[in-house]
Amino acid sequence: MTRKILVTSALPYANGSIHLGHMVEHIQTDIWVRFQKLRGHECYYCCADDTHGTPVMLAAQKQGVKPEDMIARVREEHLADFSGFLIGYDNYYSTHSPENQTHSERIYRALKANGKIESRVIEQLYDPEKNMFLPDRFVKGECPKCHAADQYGDNCEVCGTTYSPTELIKPYSAVSGAVPVLKESEHFFFKLGECADFLKEWTAGTNPHDGKPHLQPEALNKMKEWLHPDENGEGGLSDWDISRDAPYFGFEIPDAPGKYFYVWLDAPVGYMASFQNLCDRIGIDFNEFFQAGSDTEMYHFIGKDILYFHALFWPAMLHFSGHRAPSGVFAHGFLTVDGQKMSKSRGTFITAKSYLDQKLNPEWMRYYIAAKLNSKIEDIDLNLNDFISRVNSDLVGKYVNIAARAAGFIAKRFEGRLQDVSGSALLSKLAAESEHIAESYENREYARALRDIMALADLVNEYVDANKPWELAKQEGQEVRLHEVCGELINAFAMLTAYLAPVLPKVAENAAAFLNIPALTWANTRETLGAHTINKYEHLMQRVEQKQVDNLIEANKQSIQAAAEPAAEASRYAPVAGQASFDDFMKIDMRVAKVLNCEAVEGSTKLLKFDLDFGFEKRIIFSGIAASYPNPAELNGRMVIAVANFAPRKMAKFGVSEGMILSAAAQDGKLRLLDVHEGAQPGDKVG
Ligand code: MSP
Ligand code: ZN
Repeated sequence: MTRKILVTSALPYANGSIHLGHMVEHIQTDIWVRFQKLRGHECYYCCADDTHGTPVMLAAQKQGVKPEDMIARVREEHLADFSGFLIGYDNYYSTHSPENQTHSERIYRALKANGKIESRVIEQLYDPEKNMFLPDRFVKGECPKCHAADQYGDNCEVCGTTYSPTELIKPYSAVSGAVPVLKESEHFFFKLGECADFLKEWTAGTNPHDGKPHLQPEALNKMKEWLHPDENGEGGLSDWDISRDAPYFGFEIPDAPGKYFYVWLDAPVGYMASFQNLCDRIGIDFNEFFQAGSDTEMYHFIGKDILYFHALFWPAMLHFSGHRAPSGVFAHGFLTVDGQKMSKSRGTFITAKSYLDQKLNPEWMRYYIAAKLNSKIEDIDLNLNDFISRVNSDLVGKYVNIAARAAGFIAKRFEGRLQDVSGSALLSKLAAESEHIAESYENREYARALRDIMALADLVNEYVDANKPWELAKQEGQEVRLHEVCGELINAFAMLTAYLAPVLPKVAENAAAFLNIPALTWANTRETLGAHTINKYEHLMQRVEQKQVDNLIEANKQSIQAAAEPAAEASRYAPVAGQASFDDFMKIDMRVAKVLNCEAVEGSTKLLKFDLDFGFEKRIIFSGIAASYPNPAELNGRMVIAVANFAPRKMAKFGVSEGMILSAAAQDGKLRLLDVHEGAQPGDKVG
């Protein structure tokens, strides 16, 4: 049966460049879509730029251009980057489009008619110089807990506390530097609280198409936390503020002059708009895909940071406006480079453009990322040495070489003719894995699929070594055997190419030209080519050289330094805090403590959990330094300095923290724990 499937990747913001983190998502999605198409299904891949909101508006102002012009330019750049990595969208659109406005208004009106929209007057920080309300991220000030300077209005990057911007000490507007004032304004809310029953059912529900859960197990657990308040009444669903006041770059809300849809309201509707635009162009029935009860499938590939929007807001918006909900939301983890968060100063914040400009082959990266991806929400690491050796040994050493080793004999000795080798035991072994490997692709277990495909390539190479075509070629009377072995190898290469085609579309295209067939489909994973004449072999892939990777890192370091603004340089040092007395200092009781155990905190990218021995007692402290210590277990056994007389504090849903560990906030953005000379014992007083 032909499935009808709509697939999306999250819409990249129009105020930033595409980097390899984005690419993980689009490569993951593209492989899945290509696989479905190779299987003969009707599958559409839609994406767009996410163009609205305050950051886009301010970025355009800063560049002195109209937001419309900036987003048009950025969309071209994004599209060039994605095309360079062979991402095959059926449509790459924009949320600043008539279709998106129409659908956003339509959905809003339907929600309103359904009693799901409410207006309330709220107080928000306002920049009296810029005459605008400030989003949390545009208010900065001193953290109310740890007093770190220059923290954002939603959470402290030093101690990990979350708070509201009104709690910041000495707040200032990040836009103008002015002291913000509280101001009242009418806002519209989507009454998410009233959607709880539907959301409990949907999040725990299954996709009627294949019986699989709508959400991955890790995502479902997260949703449970969000959907069910704990015994302290924390968690649970709150209503969602969907309006913003002018000045704002976005769509004005119907019948509410000066009020705009919050960017996250019209962003997921952008999936719909992109698809609508495609439908109008090529004549697909839009309603068949979006009407309530539709039996088409719809999947969203996203990063773990935007689960809340896709697993709660979006399904509720769709359902309560009379549409179908998604069939599945597929979240992935974040990309790290050499075990660490991508960093501009280390040159590991690698832009898609720099990769392409340095002439690195996009299929190397597609293969490497695919070889790391599975269906879980785990971060994936790009280890640059591993990248080089993996691509060279798998793709060039094991796979491409198969064709290279046989093609010459077929051309020189047999005029390009292949015999029918359908009885080959080797080829039967390859064909037998077709459904198994298809299942891995279908389930987004790409790492497993590629492991299995490379195991087949190993079998083929063993066959080459056992049969030695180069010796057969020298022996008299072995003509027929040589023809047969080389024919088997070319067919094996064709099958492996069909298996790899979702990951390596360009190689597959060039291989089809060499094999003299129109295109490879999934059927080629289990069928031989028959008696047939092939074309001349051209080398399909080069090796990665260390130098190319070195240049890539260098290029990203340079482009960042060149782009760094003087203003950013001047504020490298946090300002010295106001005067404190000795008595103030003595109020803080700092002690040496020994790390008994340090581990990552599930569900938090910032926190590490420390079991500490203070000598006089054992305590648990959470510290927001996870990004700086990717291997927390390395800290076991070392001494740290910690404040011992803070009141215990609840860290969101993770537990209670009984103190604070000291670290130095360095200019490279890293936090480094304070050390103490040998001989210090747990419980020793610091001062
Ligand atoms: N505009 C929103 C999405 C709206 S969808 C209706 C957004 N944009 S984004 O540009 O910040 O991120 C786009 C996607 O890239 C998100 O799914 C995000 O998780 C993903 N990634 C951004 N950085 C990433 C990594 N370092 N690693 C993997 N994915 C990352 O969010
Ligand atoms: Zn803090």
